[in-house]
Order: sequence, then C-alpha cells, then structure tokens
Amino acid sequence: MRVLENLDVATMVEGGAPYGLIPDGAIVLDGTQVAWVGPQAELPSDWQGCERVDLGGRLVTPALIDCHTHLVFAGSRVREFEMRLNGASYEEIARAGGGILSTVIGTREASEAELLRDALSRADALIAEGVSTVEVKSGYGLDVETELKMLRVARQIPQHRDLSVTCTFLGAHAVPKGMNAEVYLEDVCLPALRQAHAEGLVDAVDGFCEGIAFDADQMRKVFAVARELGLPVKLHSDQLSNIGGAQVVEDFAALSADHVEYIDEAGVECLKRAGAVATLLPGAFYFLKEQQRPPVDLFRKHGVPMALATDWNPGSSPLGSLLLTMNMGCTLFGMTPAEALAGTTRIAAQALGFTDRGVVAEGMRADLAVWDAEHPAELSFHIGFNRLHSRIHGGRID
Ligand code: NIG
Ligand code: FE
Repeated sequence: MRVLENLDVATMVEGGAPYGLIPDGAIVLDGTQVAWVGPQAELPSDWQGCERVDLGGRLVTPALIDCHTHLVFAGSRVREFEMRLNGASYEEIARAGGGILSTVIGTREASEAELLRDALSRADALIAEGVSTVEVKSGYGLDVETELKMLRVARQIPQHRDLSVTCTFLGAHAVPKGMNAEVYLEDVCLPALRQAHAEGLVDAVDGFCEGIAFDADQMRKVFAVARELGLPVKLHSDQLSNIGGAQVVEDFAALSADHVEYIDEAGVECLKRAGAVATLLPGAFYFLKEQQRPPVDLFRKHGVPMALATDWNPGSSPLGSLLLTMNMGCTLFGMTPAEALAGTTRIAAQALGFTDRGVVAEGMRADLAVWDAEHPAELSFHIGFNRLHSRIHGGRID
C-alpha cells in the first residue's frame, strides 16, 4: 500500500467537476490498482500509516492511451513528402505504387529484431509523454508471413518496456501490387487473420474502407470472420471520401470509426447506434494538408464520444507525440482541452474496449501520469514542451 499525496488529480471521471478534478487530493495504490482517491483531508484512517509519496503539489491524470498507431514498420517515405510538396497527392502516390505499398517492401525485408528495435524507440517517445497503453496495428505485410511478423513484434514490446500493448490485425490495409482485392482477401488476408488469431496475436480487427483500399462489402467479409472468431472490430472510415464505412461500423457494432473527416450526419447516427467511438487523427489531417475537418459538432450533438490518437505511421502521420496530437485536436478540430484529455484517457480506453483504465478511480489500474502543470488544460496548450514529471504503470513508478 502506498499513498500519493500533496497533488491535484484530474480523475477524468464523468458527471462531476470538469476533468473530474479533485484539488488537494490523495491516491492510495494497492499493488497494480487504485484503492482510493479523494481529497487528502478525507483520507480514511486505515491508510494514514502507509508509505507516503509527496508529489509536491503536481497534477496527476490517468496515464495517456494512444488508441490508434502503426508503430511497427520499416523503410522511409521521406521522398514522398517531397513529392507531395511538389504537388502530387497522397492518392496519386498510392496509385503509383508508393504510399502503403512502399512501406510493405521495407517491412517485408526487415528482420523481427530490426522491427522491434525501431518500434521500441518509437514506444519510448510515447512513454516519455506519460503514455501507458498503445494500440499497434499490422498492415504493412500484406502476406501471411509479414502480417504475423508485425504482430509478433508488437506482442513483444511489453517484454522490454513498462507499456500495455493491444494488437490489431489490419491485413485489409491495401491491395498488394498485381493482385485483385477479392483474391487478396480470400487467399491471403483471411487466412492470415485465422492464423494470427490461432497464435494468440490478435486483440481486434481493423480495415481501410476507402476508394484506394477496400469497399464496404469487402470490409463486411473481413468483419464476418472477425465476428466468427469473437474479435472486436474497428474501421479506418471516411478519411478521404465517404463510401459507406459508417454503416459497416453499425452493422458490426465496431469499437470505433477512425479518421471520419468525410462522415455525414447519417453516418454519425450509425456510430451512435453502434455505441462506437469516433477516433480523430489530426496528425494525418495536418500532414496530408486535408481541408475537410471531422464534424465535431455533429459528434457532440449525437453524443458520440471522441478519442484522439497519433496514427503514428511512416506515410500520412509521422507523429510521435500524443501531447501535440491533443493540441492539434484543439487548434485544428475545435475540441476543448477537456475533450482532448478525455480523448486520450477515458474515451481512448473505450475505443480499445478497456473498462479497467482511462480514469483515476477505485478498482482501476494504477496507470497514472504526474505533470509539472497547474491545470489539466496545459496538456493541450503547449506545443513541443513536455511537462511530464513521472509515470506510474501498473503501480510501478518510473
Ligand atoms: O491511418 N489510412 C490508412 N492508413 C494509414 C496510412 C498508412 C500509410 O500511409 O502508410 C492511416 O493514415
Ligand atoms: Fe491509421
């Protein structure tokens, strides 16, 4: 038992004060869990005699959660950045065999050890900002062997770092060169999913529902197999155009619809009925110089919760900062700092199907971030100035 004291805590519990803020608070840790949180003056006498940790008046929040990343990859797309600045579009580059397919070549060639080394250095950047849970996707293999290799690498990250990792199968990310989409799904993607699942490598299934990737009916085929295997689904939907992804999200009760710049009101209603989270990814919006913002007002109007994530990937969002993502959520998309912090804590947990983290409350995992900040809005305010003091993962203080 340990008592953290002399702190303010933004519990992010809904319904009470903004940010669930408790000034002059205390938090009791029992092993890997939070046993109690409240005003220090009300600390129950049972815990008065426990070991004390003085946090010097700092701010405590739930540890951050990055609920959408493509952290495992190899190869560089920096040339495409130059091409785009010279006028080519993301879609043109993709159709010409660049984009995702160029990362596929690099990722197929890389060894598991090389992929792991690079993934760990990216994970370190997130950990340094108070991140404690990260979702990592496959999708740069597009063959059975490499999709499994990516997921094995993602699964190994927690053996090397104090970080929870959830692994998402994204075989339906792009159609490999020289193959037709239907044949790819039947002969490669679905067998890879079954095999990865059999090896315990899959926590959820994702897809890219877009003109340059898979249409809604093709995604339904993939999600039908996910359902048969008992795996939750989520979808890259309405990023560059609207081809009906939100209806797929509703039909399969997906955890989240991600990107969603082009979603319309009927689609937002689909998310509402599905109980899905809208995961906003301002890094890709910014880096691709997109003009159409996700309809934040419609999400608010229909009560669809919004998560925020880095979408860290080698092509459309080379963004290794969840704090900057929160700032972008506010400045680019018009979210409030309270929505941004909920989007990287409570709602991000919901987007991953977790009920044991994302808020500071009794019985939750002791995943906390301690900040040299006076107010939780500061986390969304600074640009490239990390105020993390320390991080607590599963009750262990870094
Ligand atoms: O989330 N939208 C699809 N997939 C990634 C992009 C991947 C890439 O360009 O390598 C994304 O933005
Ligand atoms: Fe993505």
